[in-house]
Amino acid sequence: MSQAQKGICAEPNLHALYLTFTVVDDDVHAMRAKLASVLDLFSHFDEEYYEAMVSGVIAIGTDYWYELYPRLIPLELAPFPNMQSEDRGAPVTPGDLFIQIKADRADICHAIGIEVIQLLRPHVDLFEEIRGFRYLDGRDLTGFVDGTENPKGMHKFDVAIVGDNDPDFAGGSYIHVQRYRHNMTKWQLLKTHNQEEVMGRTKADNVEFASDKKAAFAHTKRTNLKDENGNSVEILRQSMPYGDMAVEGLYFISCASSPKPFTDMLRNMIFADSAGNYDKLLDYTIAETGGAYFAPSVKFLKQQAIE
Ligand code: HEM
Repeated sequence: MSQAQKGICAEPNLHALYLTFTVVDDDVHAMRAKLASVLDLFSHFDEEYYEAMVSGVIAIGTDYWYELYPRLIPLELAPFPNMQSEDRGAPVTPGDLFIQIKADRADICHAIGIEVIQLLRPHVDLFEEIRGFRYLDGRDLTGFVDGTENPKGMHKFDVAIVGDNDPDFAGGSYIHVQRYRHNMTKWQLLKTHNQEEVMGRTKADNVEFASDKKAAFAHTKRTNLKDENGNSVEILRQSMPYGDMAVEGLYFISCASSPKPFTDMLRNMIFADSAGNYDKLLDYTIAETGGAYFAPSVKFLKQQAIE
């Protein structure tokens, strides 16, 4: 299978820099060449600072994809699933390019970010720049460990990477990004055992509640889905906390071999079932941005640069 971009299945790091761009001109030939140069930039920093575990992802917004590579379209390319129910929503915000830079050094993330911007500058506007960081032992700012049930080892690739069913796009990944902002004041007013009910896991030692002890509104109940054959529906989450003294939240990233798992999970979080249960976590956090992207294989990006 074609080589996937390194950052898709990368292990958790200490730091991340997330750059979202809108493209402001129609020079697609220059953009194709520059995206391949961004890949080279990632490799250069990875070799130069190998101890920093550098990785990157270049993902192309689903609308911009049709402009950039009009002759080749991933089979399941689809816009971000805009959803709203009562006060729970998933807004769609601008994003033609999404670049994820991860490393165990904040200075290296910064240095790569600056070079990426210098390369892309005449063609793009920076819509948003967010710095992610590892918090304690891999916790979200709600205090709960995040990522425990992520697929592991080689199974990550099965979950996150397109296979040979779409040969031109084998090695690619469907990426969904949402920046959530937590209402920490409201969350902290909840007693620990109520927070644990919302998550369906214990807080301090991160133990999963038995299935029959999980509330129907628990986040891990609403996102734990099975398909029609009883197999688990899975995504690979690359999320990290972000924030400052005023704003705190989770920069949520889903990588998958199809856009469907993320869409089904999000629907199950936002829309209530017949008993009125939705994902109670959404009473304490709100999605402020949303974008759907496709991150093609290394080979695809390089080939398109010279065609
Ligand atoms: C602010 C937003 C979110 C926070 C703070 C959050 C936090 C967490 C935490 C603490 C866990 C339990 C540990 C783990 O397995 O990682 C978890 C599990 C999970 N989350 Fe989220 N999450 C958020 C948004 C989402 C979204 C938007 C999705 C998908 C649409 C999602 C999908 C999942 C899945 C699939 C699991 C594993 C469920 C299981 O099988 O146990 N999460 N999340």
